[in-house]
Amino acid sequence: MNEITSHILELLRLEETHLSGQQISDELGISRTAVWKHVRQLRNAGYYIEASPRCGYRLRFSPDLPSGMEIRPLLHTDIIGKRIIFHTEVDSTNEVAMELAQEGESEGTVIIADYQSAGRGRLDRSWHSPSGMNLYVSVILRPPVTPFDAPQMSIVSVVAAVRAITRVVPGLDLGIKWPNDIITGGKKLSGILFDMKTDMDRVDYLIAGIGINVNMVQMDNSLDLKATSLKLETGKETSRPQLAAALLEELEKAYMHWLAKGLSVFLTFWEQKSVLIGRIVEVDAPAGRLCGRVKGLSCTGGLNLELDDGQSLEVLAGDVHITSIS
Ligand code: BTN
Repeated sequence: MNEITSHILELLRLEETHLSGQQISDELGISRTAVWKHVRQLRNAGYYIEASPRCGYRLRFSPDLPSGMEIRPLLHTDIIGKRIIFHTEVDSTNEVAMELAQEGESEGTVIIADYQSAGRGRLDRSWHSPSGMNLYVSVILRPPVTPFDAPQMSIVSVVAAVRAITRVVPGLDLGIKWPNDIITGGKKLSGILFDMKTDMDRVDYLIAGIGINVNMVQMDNSLDLKATSLKLETGKETSRPQLAAALLEELEKAYMHWLAKGLSVFLTFWEQKSVLIGRIVEVDAPAGRLCGRVKGLSCTGGLNLELDDGQSLEVLAGDVHITSIS
């Protein structure tokens, strides 16, 4: 959808009653036939626009589409979301974001899709991404940090996502399962996937790919950790544009805070929300299976474990299973 179509939508949003084709055509300097063509495009995208020969056009209903046109009026950020690229269908928003980042796309550009045909999860898993119901968002970041510090962004992002969900759907008991799963009632509501390109001493780009199960009710139960959605937990539909705007705002706030102050400012919140602190867990790590008690976060965002023999170990990647609460 081009700028003129977005502009017409903006005008219709501002007008509580009807707006004549002539008024729109005068405002934008285009013919009334062109106005009509743009209105038809909006209708095809799910906008319900009444048209009467006497009074003109009136916007009656906007679709629950996490597109730039729906998110932008709700968004108050300086960097993240300044450019929002919406696709009705992609393979994976992280793939699209990586290609764009590779071509030099600026920091803060956001790729959102309504449907992913090959949504990716951590550890080479797939991410169930049906259309019309969830959020699939990838954000291009270029943090001025070393490749060693960049993985901290994994913790920063999950904190931002928890805050965003809480803002839009208050009252849910949300937990964080390291590294960046959001859990409620023992089931997974959201996951985050990072893709990164680094040189020896700097980060070229970092893609934060966030998936939130919003209004989906048919779950992919093949997963180890069962999935849930906001709709299943609350019985109510959540607006995807509203949740996306809150997510981008919280992400920008957290990102700026991290760049200014480091990871330590997130520790208290993370510990309060962590479902793992103090628990005995098994971790499927790249080097094999580890067993120990979770002591907390390391300064890089890794998981500090106390092994059975009392040794301390920092886990940087892996899949965690809780084996006991004692
Ligand atoms: C996980 O928990 O395994 C991470 C899931 C990440 C899913 C999101 S949806 C948007 C972005 N695009 C992808 O292909 N994956 C991430």
